[in-house]
Amino acid sequence: MDAPELNVVTGAFSYTGKYIARRLLSMGMEVLTLTGHPNRPNPFGDRVSVAPFHFDDRTELAKSLKGAKTLFNTYWVRFPYGEDSFEKAIRNTKTLIEAAKAAGVRRVVHISVTNASEGSSLSYFRGKGRLENAIVHSGLSYAIIRPTLVFGAEDILINNIAWLLRRFPVFAVPGTGDYRVQPVFVEDVAELAVRAAQQEEDVIVDAAGPETYRFDDLVRLIAGTIHSRARIIHLRPGLALLLTRVIGYMVRDVVLTREEIDGLVANLLLSEGPATGQALLSDWLRQNAGRVGARYASEVSRHFR
Ligand SMILES: NC(=O)c1ccc[n+]([C@@H]2O[C@H](COP(=O)([O-])OP(=O)(O)OC[C@H]3O[C@@H](n4cnc5c(N)ncnc54)[C@H](OP(=O)(O)O)[C@@H]3O)[C@@H](O)[C@H]2O)c1
Repeated sequence: MDAPELNVVTGAFSYTGKYIARRLLSMGMEVLTLTGHPNRPNPFGDRVSVAPFHFDDRTELAKSLKGAKTLFNTYWVRFPYGEDSFEKAIRNTKTLIEAAKAAGVRRVVHISVTNASEGSSLSYFRGKGRLENAIVHSGLSYAIIRPTLVFGAEDILINNIAWLLRRFPVFAVPGTGDYRVQPVFVEDVAELAVRAAQQEEDVIVDAAGPETYRFDDLVRLIAGTIHSRARIIHLRPGLALLLTRVIGYMVRDVVLTREEIDGLVANLLLSEGPATGQALLSDWLRQNAGRVGARYASEVSRHFR
C-alpha cells in the first residue's frame, strides 16, 4: 500500500489551519504542522506531527517540508507588535516559499485576503499583495485563497463584538456603519483550500460567504441574537479607535487597529465575485448564541505571549 500523502499546514493548532488539517486527516492524508507554538497542546494527538517555523534557517525549514505534496500556508501577523512587523512576516513567508521550492513541494495553497494589493495604502493588504506576487512568480504551482472575514468558533472580531455587546451598555460603530462585510465560514475556507490543492491549474479565488451585511446591520444582528440591550451609537473612527484602546488596556490586547477600521470602511472585506462559501453567518450565530462573546478572544495572548 502507498504511504499516505504528506501535507504541511502552518498553524494547525490555531484557527484556519486547524480546519484545513482536520479536513486533510479526514481524507486519510498525513499532516505536519509548522507553528510558532510547537509546545501547545496538540488537538490532533499524534495524528499531526509538529515542527517549529525555523524562519531563520531555510535549510532546516526545507527539511520539515521534505516529501510534502502541498504546503497550506496560513502564516501572517494581524498587526505589528513588539518585534513582529509586516515586513518581517513578508520576509518569513518568502523564506517559507523558497524552502518549499527547495524541498520539492508540488503546490502551495496560500491564504491571503480579499482585495490584497501591492498598491494598497494599508500595510496589511499591501503586504498580502506583495506575497501574492512572490507566489505567482515563485515557479511553484499555486492556489491563492482570499478570505473576507472568517467566522467560526475561534474567530476574534465577531466574537469580540459580541463580548462588547454583552458587557457594555453602549457599542460604538466607527463612522456611519454603511460599509459592508461578507463573512465566510472557516469550514468553507478550509474546503476551498483543500479542493484547490487537488487542482492542477494556478488559481486565485476569493473565499466569501453568501450574505453581505452593512457593518451596522452586522452589529445589530449579533446584538439581536445574543439579546444584548446595548445602545448602538456612531462615532468618528478616530474616537471609536480611542475607545477600543481604553478597552484594549483593560483586556491587555489590541482590540482593533486604525488600519483595520480603514480596511472595513473601504469595503475591503467584500468580494466582487460570486459567493464561494455556503454557510450563513446568521444561522451560525443562532446556533452559537450561548457561547459567542461569552469570553473575550485575545490576539495578543494567542500569538504574542
Ligand atoms: N481570521 C480572519 O478573519 C481572516 C480574514 C481574512 C484573511 N485571513 C488570513 O487567513 C490566514 C489565517 O488567519 P487566521 O485568523 O486563521 O490566523 P491564525 O490561525 O491565528 O494564525 C495563522 C498562522 O500565523 C501565525 N501567526 C499569527 N500571528 C502571528 C504572530 N504575531 N507572530 C508569529 N506567527 C503568527 C500562527 O502561528 P501559531 O502556529 O504559532 O499559532 C499561525 O501559524 C492569515 O493569513 C490571515 O491573514 C484571516
